[in-house]
Amino acid sequence: MSPDPATSPEPSTDVSDPAMSSGTAPDVSPEPAPSRADSNGAARRPVLSVRNLHTAVSTPDGAFDVVRDVSFDINSNEVLCLVGESGCGKTITALSIMRLLPTPPVRITSGEIVFDGADLTDLPERRIRGLRAERISMIFQDPLTSLDPVFTVGQVMTEVIRTHRDATKAEARDMSVEILRAVGLPAPAERFDSYPHELSGGMRQRVMIATALVLDPEILIADEPTTALDVTVQAQILERLRAEQQERHMSMLLITHDLAVVASIADRVAVMYAGEIVEQAPVDELFSDPRHPYTQGLLRALPHVSGKRRELVPIPGLVPPMQLMPPGCRFAPRCPHALERCWSDHPALETGAEAGAGFRCFNPQPF
Ligand SMILES: Nc1ncnc2c1ncn2[C@@H]1O[C@H](COP(=O)(O)OP(=O)(O)O)[C@@H](O)[C@H]1O
Ligand code: SF4
Ligand SMILES: [Mg+2]
Repeated sequence: MSPDPATSPEPSTDVSDPAMSSGTAPDVSPEPAPSRADSNGAARRPVLSVRNLHTAVSTPDGAFDVVRDVSFDINSNEVLCLVGESGCGKTITALSIMRLLPTPPVRITSGEIVFDGADLTDLPERRIRGLRAERISMIFQDPLTSLDPVFTVGQVMTEVIRTHRDATKAEARDMSVEILRAVGLPAPAERFDSYPHELSGGMRQRVMIATALVLDPEILIADEPTTALDVTVQAQILERLRAEQQERHMSMLLITHDLAVVASIADRVAVMYAGEIVEQAPVDELFSDPRHPYTQGLLRALPHVSGKRRELVPIPGLVPPMQLMPPGCRFAPRCPHALERCWSDHPALETGAEAGAGFRCFNPQPF
C-alpha cells in the first residue's frame, strides 16, 4: 500500500497513516477568542484552539519544554502565520496538533488542542487518523522526503482518496487530475503517472499541496512549504495556496521564518521565540506597531516590508539551547531593552482588548 503523504513526514508503508503519539504549569491563559468580524463583516469563529500547550523533549539531562505555554486560535477562513527563527518550536507545535510527534523523545506534557469540540491531545489514535488528511491536513518543507519514491503521484493520490471516500479508481483519477490542475501542475494527466524523481522541486510541492487539498480539509497546516524552492516558484506556489484557501474558505496555519512571506499571505501573525509565543496581532498591526523587542528585531531585518527604509540589522546572538534557557524572559540575553526584572521574572502574555492579540514583555517599545 502507498503512504499518506498529506499526513506523514516520512515515507511509510501504512496508508491508514502512521501516527506517532503525544505537564509544567501554564503561567497565563488567554480567554477563548469571541467571534470576530473579518473585513467582509462575516463572523469569525475559532476552528482550532490551542490552549497552554507544553511539548517536551526528553534528554539524558532531563525533560525540556520546546513548546511552552502556547495558546492561539485559528479562525475560520483565515491564514494564521507562525513565525520565528529556526529552532523556536514551530514545527513541534504543528506536529503536536497533528499528533505526529516523534514520541519518544518528544511528547505533549499538558494543554489542550480543541477541534470540533474534541481535545486532540487525548483523542484515540483511530479517531486522529480519521481526522488527518480529511479534516486537518499538513504539508511539509521538503517534498522529496515526504513523497515515497516507489509510488507514482497517481497511486498515492488515489489511495488517499479511496481510503476516505467511496470512489472508484476512475473517479479518484478524475479528482486527482482536477486538483493537480487547480494547483498549477503542468500536464496533470501525464504527471499522474510520474514518479517523484521525474518531477522538479516545484512540481513535487504542487503534488504535495494537491494531495493535502484533495479531501477538502477544514484546516491546512503548511510548514515552510516553499523554503526549498527558488524565489519565483515560491511566489507562484504561495499565490496558489492563498487562492485555494480563499476559494475553499479553508483555515490555514502557515509556518515560516520569512516575514516577506507573512506580509504576502497572513491575516494574523503569532511570533514564536524559544518555544513561546511572544506576540500575536493582525498582520497590519504587527507590521505597523510591533511591541515586542523580538518582533521589532525581526522587522528591522526586513526593511522593505516594514515600509520604512532602515538599515538591515540582524538580531545579535542566538536562540538559547533548551538546557540553558534563562529563568526570566527567554529573550533577555539578546534584548537591547532588558530591565533588571527581565532576568528573574517571566513575562506573561498580556492580551489587550482584542482576542488573538497581545505580547509577552515587561518593557515594550515604540517602533
Ligand atoms: N526529534 C527531536 N528530538 C529532540 N529534539 C528535537 C526534535 N525535534 C525538534 N527538537 C528540538 O525542538 C526545538 C524546536 O524545534 P522545531 O520545532 O523543529 O523548530 P522550528 O520548526 O521553529 O525550526 C529545537 O530545539 C529542536 O532541537
Ligand atoms: S521582557 Fe525584558 S528582556 Fe524580555 S523582551 Fe521585554 S524588555 Fe526584553
Ligand atoms: Mg521547522
